[in-house]
Amino acid sequence: MLMTHAEEPTGSAPAPGGQALASASGGVEPLLRLRGVSKHFGAVQALFGVDLDLPAGEVTALCGDNGAGKSVLTKTIAGIYPPDEGAIFWEGRQVHIRSPKDSASLGIETVYQDLALADNLDIVQNMFLGRERLSGIFLDEDEMERAAKDTLASLHVTTVRSIRQPVATLSGGQRQAVAVAKAVMWNSKLVLLDEPTAALGVAQTKMVLDLVRRLKDHGLAVVVISHNLNDVFEVADRVAILHLGRMVAQGRLSAFDRQSVVDYMTTGGSSREVVAPVSNQRRG
Ligand SMILES: Nc1ncnc2c1ncn2[C@@H]1O[C@H](COP(=O)(O)OP(=O)(O)OP(=O)(O)O)[C@@H](O)[C@H]1O
Ligand SMILES: [Mg+2]
Repeated sequence: MLMTHAEEPTGSAPAPGGQALASASGGVEPLLRLRGVSKHFGAVQALFGVDLDLPAGEVTALCGDNGAGKSVLTKTIAGIYPPDEGAIFWEGRQVHIRSPKDSASLGIETVYQDLALADNLDIVQNMFLGRERLSGIFLDEDEMERAAKDTLASLHVTTVRSIRQPVATLSGGQRQAVAVAKAVMWNSKLVLLDEPTAALGVAQTKMVLDLVRRLKDHGLAVVVISHNLNDVFEVADRVAILHLGRMVAQGRLSAFDRQSVVDYMTTGGSSREVVAPVSNQRRG
């Protein structure tokens, strides 16, 4: 059960076919704000007092070396690993995200390269999978096909031959596109993409990055986890860098250059004089 400070009921489920929306407060208050979020697994402290701002209409690259805590942070936002400590604010009000259902009802969608879709189902079935809780609004096949088609078209996804083909027959980039389209169709406000281009070739990577830009143009907040600095510098507006579970730097990407991002990722600091990072945090 998702609770707010005002003990409001869980947010209503999003309606199909809708599009994205901007942040409630004209972009001043970030859509999602994490403050002092910590998470441990037994003796392993995965996150130490992490602060993170995710504004609507912007792409934030979440960077860090292997084991830095990127996936744990993503799963914390997705409700898979609720934090041990710290606060999460959604559109300015504190929320407790304790399950994937809580995050979905806020409008948070997480896309994993391999786990996002069911191979044996076709595109339409995948895009409507797991929304049974919405029944009451029963959609017939024709309507589902139309909604799936319209959403893919709105994202300029044109390479899919038939929306009735099993997802197993799609390329990695097409699968990623379907997973992202699903997020858009269900009116998500925040989409988290964990290594969306890791397994993709050049053309497919371009397609996914184009898609990321379109999500942003639709007003969504997007988080892209990537080890690939080319992707980061091509698509991100902001960057947040984790080092051994600590958020060591975050701010507008224009305040960083590639070397400073690499420095922060590998050592947790940077002596390079770029423009001073807007919100450069060093937490103990
Ligand atoms: N379920 C778990 N149980 C115990 N330890 C975990 C669990 N999940 C993650 N960890 C630990 O938390 C730390 C952060 O892991 P995480 O998966 O977030 O890294 P990452 O930044 O996503 O790395 P990569 O780039 O390799 O995907 C690691 O030390 C990892 O071993
Ligand atoms: Mg990871």
